[in-house]
This record gives sequence, structure tokens and C-alpha cells, in this order.
Amino acid sequence: MYAFKKFKCPDYNSNLGLFLSAIILLKPSFADNINGESFPSNFIFGASTSAYQIEGAWNEDGKGEGVWDHITHVSNISIADRSSGDVACDSYHKVDEDIAMLKHLGVDYYRFSIAWSRIVPNGNVSQGVNLPGVMYYLRLLEKLERENISAMVTIFHYDLPQALSFPTMFIDENYNSLYVDYARLAFLLFGNKVKYWITFNEPQGVCTSFLEKYSTKPGTDSYTCTHNIIKCHAMTYWMYDSDFRDDQKGQVGIVLNTNWDEPASQDAKDIEAAKRKLLFEVGWYAHPLVFGDYPDEMKTRIRLYTFPWESSRLPKFTDEEKSLIKGTLDFIGLNHYSTSLVSDAPDPGLFRTYEKDLGILKTYDPSWEKTSLDWFYVVPFGLRKILNWLDETYKVPIIITENGYVEDGSPFLDDDRRINYYQTYLSNVLDAIYIDHVNVIGYFTWSLMDNWEWTSGYTQKFGLYYVNFSSPTRDRLPKKSVAYYKKVLKTRRLV
Ligand code: NOJ
Repeated sequence: MYAFKKFKCPDYNSNLGLFLSAIILLKPSFADNINGESFPSNFIFGASTSAYQIEGAWNEDGKGEGVWDHITHVSNISIADRSSGDVACDSYHKVDEDIAMLKHLGVDYYRFSIAWSRIVPNGNVSQGVNLPGVMYYLRLLEKLERENISAMVTIFHYDLPQALSFPTMFIDENYNSLYVDYARLAFLLFGNKVKYWITFNEPQGVCTSFLEKYSTKPGTDSYTCTHNIIKCHAMTYWMYDSDFRDDQKGQVGIVLNTNWDEPASQDAKDIEAAKRKLLFEVGWYAHPLVFGDYPDEMKTRIRLYTFPWESSRLPKFTDEEKSLIKGTLDFIGLNHYSTSLVSDAPDPGLFRTYEKDLGILKTYDPSWEKTSLDWFYVVPFGLRKILNWLDETYKVPIIITENGYVEDGSPFLDDDRRINYYQTYLSNVLDAIYIDHVNVIGYFTWSLMDNWEWTSGYTQKFGLYYVNFSSPTRDRLPKKSVAYYKKVLKTRRLV
């Protein structure tokens, strides 16, 4: 199990050591007690959304079709309520209302994403840029600036232009330049108003959940996809560095998602499996982007489970590529929601997939509070543990880019469970800062408002603000948690 820094090295031979140890032991653990410290003055607070989940206007003003438009229109059977993001929160027409909500909360930052097909309908910049789409984001950025709210912008949040025919994009390396051209356009058009850029949101989800289901080569394509995304990220990072950073003075990072993974038992195999889970999920991206290559554990395990006559299904970086990708994170964005118990799975047999390479089983502690999603339990200490792991492993500043509580819609505005979630998770952020000295520099809630939750459609709600999806005007109302988050931002304390 991962040990907190505060539990390390008590000096039992000295009186001072005994005294300090007594204080450490007397201090109640984890989040039963809410941390009373203030957030550091330079700590940033924000709220997050993404384009497809809120904008609507799916085919307005020259926007091209995106993969999610396509999926939801051609066959929506995989969507819980058969819905789409055609209108979603209608944010394309409600910029002023969205900004008023952000202003009311008092956030320092708004994290939103650009819909690639809104500004480049065919995905390929050389085939045309859509001016009305560009104007939409320019207006949004200008209005944010006027309200003194800074911008964190995600370049790619799951919504590929359909014209790029996923999964060819990210499987065929020749397509990488299309991403880099699009990112360059975003820097050129919007960069003077953006302080934090995110190249990819949760690429691990793009390359596994989606690809492993639809590709003809699961267990191979997922690794190729990641390999290309890592190269796209690195090329974009250096392009920003050489052509934009001096003028725009922004930071470039990636957003990785992970639960905290606690070993299900003290059995060495389970401890190993929990570590493997973090390396396969986070290390798959962060190791190359920080150290220049995949984690050794991944290389060994995938080689072991590849037929002897084939080369490993995990592609290799050349030396030149290693120096291109190494050191390309100004910050790590962390999307974190829950925790699981991990144990080692029995031998996977002959058939190879990413899941089988990973080889773990997940369970949950029955004492943990359940939510309306089967993978989502409320385990506040998990956030502190994953922050510690990231900090110790990578030593790169961390921004929590998503964290928030899910409900299936009821109770409607009295979201006390959400308030409890924020309070206990944020308390663990303070513990990580003040007790463990983790370099975590910001926190963004998911989400500013209820929105279209991918395959859950409108059945699952993460918003601080309620959105009435039955009304054509998509009215927004503050839930109780709005007042709570506002107070935290104002006082910079939890109690
Ligand atoms: C991660 C994704 O980035 C976001 O799009 C999604 O809605 C939330 N997690 C909640 O599942």
C-alpha cells in the first residue's frame, strides 16, 4: 500500500522524534476531519465542461459532423436514454448565461474544449476553416476576459471530426499532422487569451474503451493509438514552445484519468496488480512524456503475452522519438472521481486484449458510499493517495482538472451528497498540500452544469447547476452545492 510522506521516518531515538510521532499518531487519519488550512493564495479554482457535452448547435453555422453526432444519429442503442448532444445545454446560444454562472461562483478559471469540427469542419485545416465557429470561441474568450476569468482550453475532448474516420485517426501515423495543424490553428487564433492548454483529455479512454470495442485488432490498436497520441502531444508541445510560448506565455499539459487503486489484500500479487493498474493507465502516457519511454513493467508484460514469433504489440520509440517526447509536460491534469480495490486476475489465456494484458480484477469496499454509477464510490482519501503517487513518481505540477459527484437526477436541487463529496475531497487536497507537500496547484469541478454524459446520456448528473433538458430554453438553476463552492472560493477554506 502507498505510504503517506507524513508517516515516514519518525526518529524514535530522540525526544523530539517521540514528540512528533505522538502528534502524528494522535492526528485522526484521512478525511473524517476537515482540514482547516486555507488554500494557498496562488492555488487556482475552476469549473470544467466539454464542447460536445454542452454546446448543442450540432450542425449550425457551418459546423462539420463529429463522431458523436454520427454515433448518436446512426445508432443510439449504446446511449442509455437514446439521446444525443444535438441541443445539450445549448451553450452555443447561451454564452452570457454560462459566464454569469461562472462569475457567480467566483472561479479563477473556466475549462472548456474546442469542438474540432466547429472550427475545421473536415478536420483538415488545409480544407477550410469555419469562421462562425472561430467567432464563437473568440467571443467566449473575450467575454471571459472581461469578467476576469482565465481560460484553460482542451484541444481534444473525445469529439473527433467524423471526416477523419476514427479509428484511422490515431492508428495511422500519417494522420498525426492533422492534429498538429489543428492545434497550431488553435494557438494562433486563441492563444493570446489562454493560460493553460490541454492537448488531450483522457486519451486512455479514447484508445481503450472505444477502440478495444470497435477495432478488429484489440490489444494492438490501443497501443498504436497511444503511441500516436503521445507523438501528437510532443510535436504540439514543441511547436508551442518554439512558435508561441514567448508571446503567449501559456502552459501545455495533458489530462489523464485514474481512480486510486488500493491493493485488495496484502498478497504480493495484489500489491503488484494495483501498481500495474496505475502504470497501465497513467504511466502508459506520463512515463513517456516525462521520462521518454513506456514503463518497464508494461514492456515486459506485453512482450510476455505476445506470441513469440511476433514483435511486441507495444510499439517502440526510436532514440530520436524518445528525445522528442521526453519532458513535454508543463503540468499533469488529473481527472479523478473514485477508488477501487485491485487484485491480480488469473492468467488471461491465449486471446490478447489491453484488459487481459493489464490482468486485474476490481472490487469495492462495501463500507464505501455508493453513487448512481456502478464504478463510482465516494472515497475521499483516494484523491490524496493518487496525488502523492503522481507527485512522487513524476515531480511535475498537478492540476486536478475534474472531480465531482454524480447523481441520477434526484434529489433535484438539494444536493447535500455533492457538498459532502466536495468538502471531503477538497480536504484531502489540503492534506496533500500541507502535510504531504504535494505540488498540486489547482482544482476544477466537474461540472459547471448538468450535461450530456456520453453513453449515460442525460441520466447521470454531475452539475453544480441544474439544467432543465425538457425545456427548449434549457433553463439553469443553482443547486445547493453552488453556494457551497462559492463560499469555498471566497473564503479559500472548507470550514
Ligand atoms: C471524464 C470526462 O472527461 C468527462 O467528459 C465526463 O463527463 C466525466 N469524466 C464524468 O464521467
